[in-house]
Amino acid sequence: MPNSPNPVVGIVMGSQSDWPTMQVAAETLDALGVPYEARVLSAHRVPDETGAWAASASERGMKVLIAAAGGAAALPGVVAAKTLLPVIGVPMEGWALQGLDALLSMVQMPPGVPVGTVSIGKPGATNAALYAAHILAVEDATVREALAAYRARRSEQILENPDPHSS
Ligand code: RP5
Repeated sequence: MPNSPNPVVGIVMGSQSDWPTMQVAAETLDALGVPYEARVLSAHRVPDETGAWAASASERGMKVLIAAAGGAAALPGVVAAKTLLPVIGVPMEGWALQGLDALLSMVQMPPGVPVGTVSIGKPGATNAALYAAHILAVEDATVREALAAYRARRSEQILENPDPHSS
């Protein structure tokens, strides 16, 4: 789906090449009915624009930010430094080290500016979207109900097919 005019979650990624992975986060938010804005920005290629986007996110109505990057993966830390909104970092697999470089970059933020880091790649992108929804669900009953329904569907998928031979 296209970006919402009234996003409550911001998804930012360091390159267009991150989109095939981060699309999973967008689809997960779509499924939960959570409006979001997805943007390509870059801590090292467009640092001023990145800072301005993060600094204005709260006043534009966003409540949680998701930041994805590969390699040295400075983007989530830079975004977190420019906002008081919670920032969830998603390490991209990148071109070397299978994303371990990005994972360690994000998870090793020095004390004072946290980046809540999820796992590498598409599983992390899914969980980043879910975690953003859980943060929103503290105050938003509609999102809470959507998450409960999501969990219920996942439970049903297991209980309806308990025999591994049938899959
Ligand atoms: C990072 O470098 C991006 O987040 C991406 O994961 C990686 C490669 O970027 P491209 O060379 O594909 O633009 O900044």
